[in-house]
Amino acid sequence: MMFGLFKKQVPEKHAGHHLLTDMHSHLLPGIDDGAPDIATSISLIKGLAALGYTWLITTPHIMNDMYPNTPHIINERLHDLRQALSKQNIDIQIEAAAEYYVDEFFEELLQTEELICLPGNKILVEQSMLQAYPRFKDVVYELRLKGYTPIIAHPERYVYMAEQKHDYQWFKDSGCLLQVNLLSLQGYYGKSERKLAEYLYREGMIDLYGTDCHHDRHLARLSKFATETNAIRLSENTKIY
Ligand SMILES: [Fe+2]
Repeated sequence: MMFGLFKKQVPEKHAGHHLLTDMHSHLLPGIDDGAPDIATSISLIKGLAALGYTWLITTPHIMNDMYPNTPHIINERLHDLRQALSKQNIDIQIEAAAEYYVDEFFEELLQTEELICLPGNKILVEQSMLQAYPRFKDVVYELRLKGYTPIIAHPERYVYMAEQKHDYQWFKDSGCLLQVNLLSLQGYYGKSERKLAEYLYREGMIDLYGTDCHHDRHLARLSKFATETNAIRLSENTKIY
């Protein structure tokens, strides 16, 4: 089993020993299906800090009518959260970008609005878990033409891709980065997701790892994973800049 690779030889704490970056989470209060309020945001951030994360780039959903977030809303929440963190003397670097859901709405946004990027003009995109968006590849072309580097969020969670694994290589060849959720390697989302995550790991295709942390159940699983294996340290390879 691949997680032999990450098994701890000696039990040790992660806290503060390594510089870890997380570039995918839902920690801003009350604007998507992540933290509902500031108290929860802070408790999740404390939990991630305890795992050793020192730099968080949180990525609220932007998804048509469901989460109609804008740069203005996101920056306002980030400002509130930073103030609350500093009041409590919690020393962590936190920034915000977004996770864009690719559909017709996004295609329109792409023509009309400036997108919220991660460092280096990288843009985090996801699509439906049920079926591929028919024009997803066209959107990738368009993003590349406009000078963005698409980061495909959790490609292992699109289980329909198990039948079309060549598309993973297509993404790579088209200039995309692949970001796997740590919890997929842990088995949190299910067997198929884990198998695809392991496949991408074995093939050396993973560019970035993310927590995709939404709530305390994610945090609890991540903590368990960190206690049992060294896998959280994969985030050390997360060079986002
Ligand atoms: Fe996410």
